[in-house]
Amino acid sequence: MADVTLTIDGDSVTVPAGTTILKAAEKLGRHVPTICYHDHCTANGLCRICVVEVDGVKPLVQVDGVKPLVPACLSRVSEGMKVSTSSARSERSRRTILEMLASAVDLSQAPEINKFIEDYRADRARFPEAERREVPVLDDNPMYIRDYSKCILCWRCVQVCADDAQFTFAINFKGRGFDTGIGTFFDKPMTETTCVFCGQCVGVCPTGALKSKREALLEEGFSLDEIMQATRGGKKRRRKSP
Ligand code: SF4
Ligand code: FES
Repeated sequence: MADVTLTIDGDSVTVPAGTTILKAAEKLGRHVPTICYHDHCTANGLCRICVVEVDGVKPLVQVDGVKPLVPACLSRVSEGMKVSTSSARSERSRRTILEMLASAVDLSQAPEINKFIEDYRADRARFPEAERREVPVLDDNPMYIRDYSKCILCWRCVQVCADDAQFTFAINFKGRGFDTGIGTFFDKPMTETTCVFCGQCVGVCPTGALKSKREALLEEGFSLDEIMQATRGGKKRRRKSP
């Protein structure tokens, strides 16, 4: 595959054609923040925290003197492209995205996003009138709980459940607009879906919306015996004799 040379924050870098701006920036040691992106999932460009300012691409709508902001996780490099990873516009855009997330979602168990909020000096109280995503915790199986008040709709869980990893297709988007959420077909309990309880969705969730039930019960102060009862239905496993 042919190589492409571009500049990122004034430094020249040459990468194979088809490389994303995010990976080209990583080659130069530049850090571009990401939230919905995961190295083992197909990039979907949902959160837009990774936007960078670019000279050398044709935007859908041209505004005189304004360079387009593009998602670095999704956009491919092109010859002669000039990328700025931390222009005032991209930083302002990231800050606003973080402020909107903080206004609507419980981010108390999202350490990476909280770090971004500090780094970008985002104001958690910027949108005091915003409607918050508040839904009951779903506890319908012995393996994990689902607390969608903490869900930022990054789609990682859906992708690993589908054709990025497990090919199980137990969960997907549901609803429209502000009521968009992640759910099962016809809102069936997880035990009545195709879920095989592999735990991959829990592993990729960046906000604690999906959590191992044992971890959740430990945090709530239950004893180990109580946790074993709750997660094994009271059955004790036989140990193999040595
Ligand atoms: S449950 Fe977690 S992984 Fe799934 S969309 Fe919500 S935040 Fe992302
Ligand atoms: S990390 Fe690029 S759009 Fe979410």
